[in-house]
Amino acid sequence: MDLRSYIRDVPDFPKPGVLFKDIMPLLGSPEAFAAAVAQLAGHYPAGSIDVIAAAEARGFLFAAPMALTLKKPLVPLRKPGKLPGATHSFKYDLEYGSAELHVHADAIRPGARVLVVDDVLATGGTMAAACKLIEYAGGTVVGCAFLLELAFLNGRAPLTGYDVFSLLTY
Ligand code: PRP
Repeated sequence: MDLRSYIRDVPDFPKPGVLFKDIMPLLGSPEAFAAAVAQLAGHYPAGSIDVIAAAEARGFLFAAPMALTLKKPLVPLRKPGKLPGATHSFKYDLEYGSAELHVHADAIRPGARVLVVDDVLATGGTMAAACKLIEYAGGTVVGCAFLLELAFLNGRAPLTGYDVFSLLTY
């Protein structure tokens, strides 16, 4: 199956000059969605991972079915004010302003091997922040998995030292 045919180019979104890669057609096809999840999950031997984590929101769309496929616990990394228990947090800079991710302080046991999942690797800022938060919480990041990577944005640079895998590269 050609998964690329399920990624839609949207010119000038979210601002003029940006060619947005829209994953909604892939989510809208159960066959393509299932194939993408199977290929992503299949890249990782089940015995090499203890936990699957992902940053809100679109990362959840791939992390959840991967967690079911690989039969691993799912740990959502959430925006501020969403988790009811005590949390660890990590604040990071975006192009405009900043963002913050939280994880429950008891969500990751010390030394747990964590696969961090997201839909898109662009600048790498979100994934780098997610990895730092996982490590602060006591986990070991064993991989960063993406549906697609915008290679021209060099998002692998802030992820130097991590095992990065993308299903589709643009
Ligand atoms: C998108 C995407 C990744 C991130 C990639 O999320 O889902 O998490 O941007 O960009 P980066 O590599 O430059 O950090 P977005 O912030 O749009 O939020 P959403 O998942 O809630 O849509």
